[in-house]
Amino acid sequence: MLLVLLIGFLLPSGCPGLPFYNGFYYGNVMNDRSYRNGNGEGFFNGVKLVVETPEEPLFTHRGANVTLPCRYHYEPAPTSSRPVRIKWWKLGENGAPERDVLVAIGLRHRSFGEFRGRVHLLQEKEQDVSLVIHDLRLQDYGRYRCEVIDGLEDESGVVELELRGVVFPYQPPYGRYRLNFHEAQVACEKQDAVVASFEQLFRAWEEGLDWCNAGWLLDGTVQYPITLPRQPCGGHGLAPGIRSYGERHKRLHRYDVFCFSSSVKGRVYYLEHPEKLTLAEAEEACQEDGARIAKVGQLFAAWKFYGLDRCDAGWLADGSVRYPVTRPRPNCGSLEPGVRSFGFPDKESRRYGVYCYRQSWG
Ligand SMILES: *[C@@H]1O[C@H](CO)[C@@H](O)[C@H](O)[C@H]1NC(C)=O
Repeated sequence: MLLVLLIGFLLPSGCPGLPFYNGFYYGNVMNDRSYRNGNGEGFFNGVKLVVETPEEPLFTHRGANVTLPCRYHYEPAPTSSRPVRIKWWKLGENGAPERDVLVAIGLRHRSFGEFRGRVHLLQEKEQDVSLVIHDLRLQDYGRYRCEVIDGLEDESGVVELELRGVVFPYQPPYGRYRLNFHEAQVACEKQDAVVASFEQLFRAWEEGLDWCNAGWLLDGTVQYPITLPRQPCGGHGLAPGIRSYGERHKRLHRYDVFCFSSSVKGRVYYLEHPEKLTLAEAEEACQEDGARIAKVGQLFAAWKFYGLDRCDAGWLADGSVRYPVTRPRPNCGSLEPGVRSFGFPDKESRRYGVYCYRQSWG
């Protein structure tokens, strides 16, 4: 009796109730399925379901709309179209949990969590179940699995999505090695960024990032990138590379952090202003200009993606003073491109200008 009941649940065609899938009712759609072909043989005897996704990662930037390609077909092709269920989810990696993105059957779909209202299936052609994500967020990078379910058969493929971005080391105004992991996450968010992954730090190191203070990464490890081996940074004996302290205690241990940001909508600019400003005056001056004082992540993104180049030191929202240089020249800091920092000067000093951020261009 129990066995009969179980089979009743497993074979949708024999089940009169509402099929239940991952918290989402599909109504009667699944009941229309003819599970077996005319010969009474399992349809998949000799028929292969094939799911295709690109092998290369897709590169894009924050705020973009992106399509993650995924198509399926049968070998050999069936004579009539078959109903399938589609499930997209984001793989759990880097300390982040697995996340449901979207489930669909026919034209009906449901999206989940932070993807709700931002995703749909492209469905331009039959058997095209590419996923469109709107207004990409910093946290959206990662690997997504596209699963096609036909009866008891399912196949899947993976699409890797990467954001073009910039990694910057960050320490708070109150000094070096003060952040536990959770405070590090908050610190990056306040600068319009997220904690960088190892891959993001690695790419930044390949592009020349050299930093002798250890910082948190998203996977809970603490590392730092060295391109020029030297004594206080692991010594001369080690090859250039990412030095790792390994996994640290997320609450008890304190370091700096590596933050990751991508391009921003809008514009970061040095405010033309007749006088130098205190931090409070700087905030006010940006507001009077219809803008806000820029965050550290916004300045780095403007430097990296829009080539912002300015030899004037200016206040930023966290109370630090910096300036971005893409074309190094004499009297403008070191001979490498970069965002120069004056640390966190006395808030009352009137020796600096300000960088503002305005959401719209113009
Ligand atoms: C993304 O798509 C939305 C809706 O179709 C559109 O309004 C928006 O301009 C698009 N954004 C970009 C960056 O293309």
